[in-house]
Amino acid sequence: MNNAAIGVFDSGVGGLTCVEEIMKLMPHENIVYLGDTARVPYGTRSKETIIRYAKQDIAFLEQHNVKMILVACGTVSSVLANVEHNNKTEVSGVVQPTVHAACAATRNNRIGIIATGATIKSGSYGKVIRGISPDIKVIGKACPMFVPLVENGYTSPDCPPAVFFAEEYLECMKSERVDTLILGCTHYPHLSEVISQVMGEGVKLISSGAELAKYALKTMTYNDQLAERKEQGSLELYCTDSEELFAENVEKFLGKNINAKISKCNLNLVI
Ligand code: DGL
Repeated sequence: MNNAAIGVFDSGVGGLTCVEEIMKLMPHENIVYLGDTARVPYGTRSKETIIRYAKQDIAFLEQHNVKMILVACGTVSSVLANVEHNNKTEVSGVVQPTVHAACAATRNNRIGIIATGATIKSGSYGKVIRGISPDIKVIGKACPMFVPLVENGYTSPDCPPAVFFAEEYLECMKSERVDTLILGCTHYPHLSEVISQVMGEGVKLISSGAELAKYALKTMTYNDQLAERKEQGSLELYCTDSEELFAENVEKFLGKNINAKISKCNLNLVI
């Protein structure tokens, strides 16, 4: 057993989809979360910049002596995949666990991936899918307006801009008859209702943040790293921009009664 916290990070509020699942599956774990809200979005930036930001995020979490770092960001997970990183702590990303869940879910061997521009450009999800099953047809689509919609709270299925962009981006997924859709950016599950409404109920949505949490449970159980604690774990949330704005989103996505300590941190940001 290991009572140290689990570290989780994302460019903003997307990684809260992973935190929510950790709290459901492992309620006794302490969590330290970093949302780099001053520099969101990452998905429109160059590979070099994304790697630089990710290294700073990882270094911040390492200062909190976390036992594992979950990269709850599809963009960083995709871009860091082939980069050597010398971390003290085990670092896991969303791509592998999400792909395994999608390959198990598809019945017609047609999987769609929606994610940020950087993730789609990296081809990360497609490469892993083809390694598992070369017969699966993969259709990728970047959805650059989804992250700003989520960060600004436009997520409801009644919200005209959310519906407009979902219809625009998902048309190709419908015409390609995918039966499984990977939400390859951790922000996108916040738009699940709109996406489901457009795709139809028969299409299975796979949340990358939730799959990463399930993977963390499996590996920590296997390595005997779960916390030995009877009470509810603590939730420490850090952001790099306004705490007030971040708190509003946290309430919206994790619920009003969430018991979390929210602080602003300084990563010595160099944009
Ligand atoms: N939540 C992120 C991802 O999973 C990042 C989106 C962004 O910052 O562009 O890709």
